[in-house]
Amino acid sequence: MKVLVTGGTGYIGSHTCVELIESGHEVVIMDNLYNSSAEVLNRIEQITSVRPAFYEADIRDHAAYKKIFNEHHIDAVIHFAGLKAVGESVEKPLEYYDNNIYGTLVLLEEMRNFHVNKIVFSSSATVYGDPKEVPIREDAELHTTNPYGSTKLYIEQIMKDAAHADSDLKVCLLRYFNPIGAHQSGLIGETPNGIPNNLLPYVAQVATGIRDYLRVWGNDYDTVDGTGVRDYIHVVDLAHGHLLALEYLNKCEENVCVFNLGTGNGYSVLQVVQAFERNSGRKVPYQICERRAGDIATCYADTTKARELLGFIAKYDIDDMCRDLWNFASKNPEGIQ
Ligand code: NAD
Ligand code: UFG
Repeated sequence: MKVLVTGGTGYIGSHTCVELIESGHEVVIMDNLYNSSAEVLNRIEQITSVRPAFYEADIRDHAAYKKIFNEHHIDAVIHFAGLKAVGESVEKPLEYYDNNIYGTLVLLEEMRNFHVNKIVFSSSATVYGDPKEVPIREDAELHTTNPYGSTKLYIEQIMKDAAHADSDLKVCLLRYFNPIGAHQSGLIGETPNGIPNNLLPYVAQVATGIRDYLRVWGNDYDTVDGTGVRDYIHVVDLAHGHLLALEYLNKCEENVCVFNLGTGNGYSVLQVVQAFERNSGRKVPYQICERRAGDIATCYADTTKARELLGFIAKYDIDDMCRDLWNFASKNPEGIQ
């Protein structure tokens, strides 16, 4: 298949491009490089020996799609492009709605104009809000607590409505849990801008000496050791899930499908710190601090549906994730530039 990957130079997008190319698909990347570097294209080429077609363009730009869809016969779109910082979305909700939701509307409109009718969308476990029970099933109640999460929930609804109105359109909504780790080559990985919000990028910066210590946001949750529990998934496993989703869209009867992509295992913050220390040989000093506003105690996936319908099984465990993250972070202390 020839696949348009929006946000393809970003963290999850770049790993998915590698998986796609290695499975014999053709990749066309569209990214405005707001949160990534064109150097990623060199890295993808180093890993796969194939350089994907690249358009430096904004997903809100109608003319860009006209160019891309006229120059390539696209069979499907994987839509990663978007802004993703929860805290920033509270400060700048309009920017988040404009970029994520308006961008998706333009994409869907141009897909319709050019008869491109399969799309896989990067949703998030954030749409489950504070879940009533874990593991979380896809049919759990949905609600969000911040504008970023709301963009994911609204886009899911927009895609469902669009597929309802157009029987040719097929949509796969993938709700990611907590992607971490990096490609085994150490050539691509996550390069956060500024002070990282997420746990693993912060831990890696403590280990490399960029930050003094980790602040653990609360140890009074009702969990194994009082710290927050999450379902961390290796980004390479997650990327593979997108291939399975594309295969599924090619054969399924329904117009809309929804899958959790996680491992089904929960790890606490302190368990993750221990795993990171074990796999990096570095100490990660930490201090227990107050809870972070908006955080929940525990979040992990029920993986039954993805396993049964997609055949998705995560191959990598928490030690692999930490080892591969450290391999990338120690080789690229300044990120990918
Ligand atoms: P990322 O920031 O590394 O990648 C997103 C890419 O989209 C970047 O390369 C950025 O330059 C590009 N982009 C942003 N706005 C754009 C626009 N208007 N036009 C063109 N390109 C644009 O993020 P990521 O971690 O790879 O996340 C990919 C997707 O997965 C996002 O939609 C994110 O919300 C979602 N997601 C991520 C996580 C996570 O923890 N990383 C969890 C759940 C869902
Ligand atoms: N944590 C710390 N210190 C830090 C950072 C995080 O103790 O410096 C803790 C958090 O309190 C939480 C756990 O580490 O218990 C994980 O936190 P992250 O910020 O890495 O991840 P979240 O689960 O809070 O959120 C992430 C993404 C969201 C997404 C959600 C579900 O940031 O966008 O996963 O996919 F919605």
